[in-house]
Amino acid sequence: MYLPDLVVAPLLEVDNVVHATTRIYESQEQNLVQLKSSKMQMGSTEKDDREEVLQAWYMDDSDEDQRLPHHRNPMEFVSLEKLAGIGVLSWRLDADNYETDDDLKKIRESRGYSYTDFREVCPENLPNYEKTIKTFFREHLHIDEEIRFCVAGSCYYDVRDINDCWIRVMVKKGGMIILPAGMYHRFTLDANNHVKVMRLFVGDPIWTPYSRPHDHLPARKEYLESFVHKAAENTLEEKNCSVTGKASREG
Ligand SMILES: [Fe+2]
Repeated sequence: MYLPDLVVAPLLEVDNVVHATTRIYESQEQNLVQLKSSKMQMGSTEKDDREEVLQAWYMDDSDEDQRLPHHRNPMEFVSLEKLAGIGVLSWRLDADNYETDDDLKKIRESRGYSYTDFREVCPENLPNYEKTIKTFFREHLHIDEEIRFCVAGSCYYDVRDINDCWIRVMVKKGGMIILPAGMYHRFTLDANNHVKVMRLFVGDPIWTPYSRPHDHLPARKEYLESFVHKAAENTLEEKNCSVTGKASREG
């Protein structure tokens, strides 16, 4: 089955969690500095070519098909810099030549991604497609990063901002994103119903999803400390996420 990290989450107890997560955050600041100085992260005065394959916006609260864009009215786009502020890193890479792409090689080496595989999902190769993609859409987190490089098609990743509002991240061919450990998120195909992604991981992959709420997990606590709390301290704006009708459940 495609994306086994997104199938129904077993409610594992924290005692079973033995995977270190601190390494992710230890290197986070350093990685951000490196990325900002690289050609893959453009300065504010330059056009950011990532936006041709990666876009983000606040979602409406409609119950219509999850594969629709779900823009608010008026639209509220979110910059890739803002996404980085909540831990979502992104690149534009060469999806036609990923085997020889130096930028991908550098990312893999710098972040220790030793594992790679591919998953393709579309109605033709996913049994019970309509039902199964709904299971992908359940909010969850992982105790490790989720790293995806879209090499064909397109899809959406939805992530929570610091006020618990949903941000939809559209990922097209050539877009690569990293969702940090401990961040609540969900996945869906878009209306084109086709995507092929490269999955990367440090060491042997563990795709276990933890359905919300799993706020007691160390990875969740570290995520809140590393991104949400700091981001909240750095902004005077307290945005009410009333459009979703879902108040913060951080407890
Ligand atoms: Fe996930």
